[in-house]
Amino acid sequence: MDTRWSGEAKYQTLLAAAQAANSQRDLSRVLAAVAGALKGLVSVDGLLVFTYEGGRARMRAIYLRGAPRRSCESQQAYLRRFSEATGAADGTYVARLRDAIERDRRTLVFNDKNDPSLEGTAAKRSGAECGVVVPLTMGEAFVAGLTFVRMTLSPFSPDEVQVLEDVARPVTTAVANALAFEEIQRLRGLLEDENLALREEIAATAAAGGIIGASAALREVLERVARVAATDSTVLITGETGTGKELIARAIHTGSPRAKRALVRVNCAALPEGLIASELFGHERGAFTGALERRRGRFELASGGTVFLDEVGELPAPVQVALLRVLQEREFERVGGSETLRTDARVVAASNRNLEEAVREGKFRSDLLFRLNVFPIRVPPLRERAEDIPLIAEYWASQYTRKLGKAIKGIDESAMAVLCGYRWPGNIRELQNVVERAVILARGSLLGLSDFELPSLAAAPEAVRLARAGPGDERQQIEEALKASRGRVYGDGGAAEALGVPPSTLESRIRRLAIDKHAFRRRGSAPPALKP
Ligand SMILES: Nc1ncnc2c1ncn2[C@@H]1O[C@H](COP(=O)(O)OP(=O)(O)OP(=O)(O)O)[C@@H](O)[C@H]1O
Ligand SMILES: [Mg+2]
Repeated sequence: MDTRWSGEAKYQTLLAAAQAANSQRDLSRVLAAVAGALKGLVSVDGLLVFTYEGGRARMRAIYLRGAPRRSCESQQAYLRRFSEATGAADGTYVARLRDAIERDRRTLVFNDKNDPSLEGTAAKRSGAECGVVVPLTMGEAFVAGLTFVRMTLSPFSPDEVQVLEDVARPVTTAVANALAFEEIQRLRGLLEDENLALREEIAATAAAGGIIGASAALREVLERVARVAATDSTVLITGETGTGKELIARAIHTGSPRAKRALVRVNCAALPEGLIASELFGHERGAFTGALERRRGRFELASGGTVFLDEVGELPAPVQVALLRVLQEREFERVGGSETLRTDARVVAASNRNLEEAVREGKFRSDLLFRLNVFPIRVPPLRERAEDIPLIAEYWASQYTRKLGKAIKGIDESAMAVLCGYRWPGNIRELQNVVERAVILARGSLLGLSDFELPSLAAAPEAVRLARAGPGDERQQIEEALKASRGRVYGDGGAAEALGVPPSTLESRIRRLAIDKHAFRRRGSAPPALKP
């Protein structure tokens, strides 16, 4: 045994190393402290700490004598400077030594820099001649690898290796703490970003309210939502503008086991083509002009949660390729980055564009559509579920009444009839806006016809008239007009013209009211024979 390494000296050194190391939270300062404590016992020129992540070694900290960290330099900046200076790739370190270090927990000694197992390692590229790699463990757990290097060709003796192993033991706690601290910082950053997304989320949900409606068409949609929510399947929601696609996407997230994590929405149509990839996948510092900091993308933020790709049909072609890879392999890279990241985020996409058509036009990849379309949900337009109109109108009327502090009790019958007869090209969003305006304008306690401003009301006098007349009178009016036209709906002197409505509209009303128009033709002006 080396005389320097016995009794009191040993005790003092271990104590000094442990104390020095434990007084630092920052890893490279821990290493500097250890180097200081070793002074006079074992000469080392540098120390490195690395961990294993997904099978790859990752350098976490470095201390090099003669290349000290600048006083206000961050650890990352220092590592980067080191990597650039030595050409050691991106902090990756000794991947092939993993079996010995991580699995077998063996100390490795390299006294010959030409040892083939050092090929390509950061230690070798940094100019180290000799090295000792000690596995740091706590109980059963592997914490990190600690490497001591010498820049001169003076082999480590077995005694010195013993010293380094002894020193490494009390240092383990400090390294574990420093790594945990780093992890906390990382998670805190993630949490802050996620909180922001969550806060935006809560505001949006509060404004959106629930999904109102009792029609069979909507019930079918909600059933599909309930069935797919529990799974991790990709969902593609289609439907005209304003039909409630976003609400459905939220319902899928809320009903899923991911509800506690973020639902991160990306409007693929709102971002300029050049920024969408960085928004989705993040970017590295300096990836493009203006990329001053590394930024996490939405797929990273949605870890454990859901990414909602709104207007997915608008994705530019290169991003379609990257998204396809995420859906197939769950992998992506940040813009300007080479590190492959994995995501476990669930994807829900929506489009009001006909994607099959977009595929035919060559604007959307068919393989991407195939991957997105695992579980399609079509949200029907409002005109296909007219039964929902009164419910939704009343719902928004009461919401806005409360919000605006008014004393409105509801919508009167004639106004409701008009709302039900309108085609709602803008679907629920249009209905919601019309109701909001009516609540603002209303003076009475019931919303009446004059409170609603529908763009096509002027063009649809029939709707107004029929609505004013009430449903009972509607039949009578139509029958009278048919009587006068002898059952003819179309053309000059037809019933449609007399009522001032498009013939197709009248036809559908005739069908709805089960009026037998042929009865008028056959019997001339005789009283109509009504179907039950
Ligand atoms: N069933 C419903 N009951 C009540 N309100 C609804 C319902 N569906 C949608 N809405 C409301 O209608 C508005 C439009 O809904 P949403 O934004 O989900 O539609 P969208 O299909 O995503 O529209 P776009 O294609 O224009 O993006 C929202 O304010 C939403 O709260
Ligand atoms: Mg939308």
